[in-house]
Amino acid sequence: MARTVKIFDTTLRDGEQSPGCSMNLNEKIEVARQLDAMGVDVIEAGFAIASPGDAAAIAAIADTVKNAVVCSLARCTEKDIDAAWNAIQYATKKRIHVFLATSPVHMEYKLKMSEEEVVESVRHHVAYARHYCEDIEFSAEDATRSDLDFLCRVFETAIEAGATTLNIPDTVGYVLPEEYAERVRYVCEHVKGVENVTLSCHCHDDLGMAVANTLAGVRAGIGQIECTINGIGERAGNASMEECVMAIRTRRSYFGADTNIHTNQIYRASRMIQTITGVPVAPTKAIVGANAFAHESGIHQHGVLANKETYEIMTPESVGIPQNAIVLGKHSGRHAFEDRLRALGYSLDQSKIDKAFEKFKLLADKKKTIKDRDLEAIVGAVPVSGAERYTLVNFVINSGNAITSTAVIRLKHGDDICERVAASDGPINAAYRALNKIVGKDFVLEDYSLNAITEGEDAQGEAIVKISLDGGEWVTGRGVSTDVIEASIKAYVNGINKFFNE
Ligand code: KIV
Ligand code: ZN
Repeated sequence: MARTVKIFDTTLRDGEQSPGCSMNLNEKIEVARQLDAMGVDVIEAGFAIASPGDAAAIAAIADTVKNAVVCSLARCTEKDIDAAWNAIQYATKKRIHVFLATSPVHMEYKLKMSEEEVVESVRHHVAYARHYCEDIEFSAEDATRSDLDFLCRVFETAIEAGATTLNIPDTVGYVLPEEYAERVRYVCEHVKGVENVTLSCHCHDDLGMAVANTLAGVRAGIGQIECTINGIGERAGNASMEECVMAIRTRRSYFGADTNIHTNQIYRASRMIQTITGVPVAPTKAIVGANAFAHESGIHQHGVLANKETYEIMTPESVGIPQNAIVLGKHSGRHAFEDRLRALGYSLDQSKIDKAFEKFKLLADKKKTIKDRDLEAIVGAVPVSGAERYTLVNFVINSGNAITSTAVIRLKHGDDICERVAASDGPINAAYRALNKIVGKDFVLEDYSLNAITEGEDAQGEAIVKISLDGGEWVTGRGVSTDVIEASIKAYVNGINKFFNE
């Protein structure tokens, strides 16, 4: 029988701490809900000591998540471990994840600690964490550049002090698959008590090896994979969850293993992370890229039509990619709408269904046919936490290649309607200047992207903006409309609302 490899998702910690991927509280909770719904075993919700915001988000996730273990990272200090415990203590299932570097370069230059000091710190802090909680993970940071015998000694110490999971991170993405597997086997053979704990892998993608190293670890006997949705993470990122999970599912008998992941939730999770962070995946990205299941060449199309297995090793349905079929129209009722959402894997509460249905009706007035991807765009947005301070009432844009563009924008703010006019060399810029005037702030547009969600003349456009104020953190906004200027304005307003609510 296939053994089960646990999935430890660190999108909200290693993923979120990478530049351009930050999320607000509401977004983190939505991501955690999705991870829980898709069957993730452990959710690393953050690094509690990093900031009060991080600690609050972990506590809120601990309160929300029903099935998965909720985990916080902590360095080897009592203060870090106290903060981690305070944040996770009310979770149904909880874990403290303690780490300390074990490689010569990290010990000498970063920690300024001797081997003996490292061993003693691990003994003390793992035991300290264990007095709070039974589920303790210890990570030997930069394990792949550590002396193997020293690594084993540290792991033995961690087991003696009460660790239940031992992680072998390839922190700098340095090793190759065979080397990683060898290291796992060495640990399995030389660490006393290793058979009573779970071994974990955590691989970074600096040489493009994160998924390959992870899978080599699974072949060598690893029991837990640490990964992120879309592979977001420090520098080149972490091992991508969708790639690890689908490799194991598709080649189950090769690995003699499987995971608990409901793979039909993968696409939804990927889209959620793309829209929240504003970091798109490449069209050729395995599993979730726009081209991952597109067969353009005639030979391939012919083969797939004759028998899908000629060129398809897994189906788009198996990862939850909405099909391009026309599913609903102007006359579709609420029942059909709810049915279709359920079929796509959404289980929304009544107020979210009501809002989504309103948007659907508005869209159906503009578009003859509604496809699954349109529905996904309607319900895929994470709502702004708290009240939406500003909403778009209407706008008029005057633009052309021989005139200066002007924008008149009207927003609702409480009971007031505010209107401003601005001019610039392009319509979007003019609109954004008018919005800045209304809200009385000089937001700067740091990044802007516009993509068609579906094909055809009446396709919906999705605009994603990143805005900042006074050089502070970037906030991501998203807007969807059949009119690209409206989508762009909505994205900016969405960003402004998020800014004010944080
Ligand atoms: O990459 C790394 O070493 C880490 C540890 C904290 C597990 O993220
Ligand atoms: Zn990492």
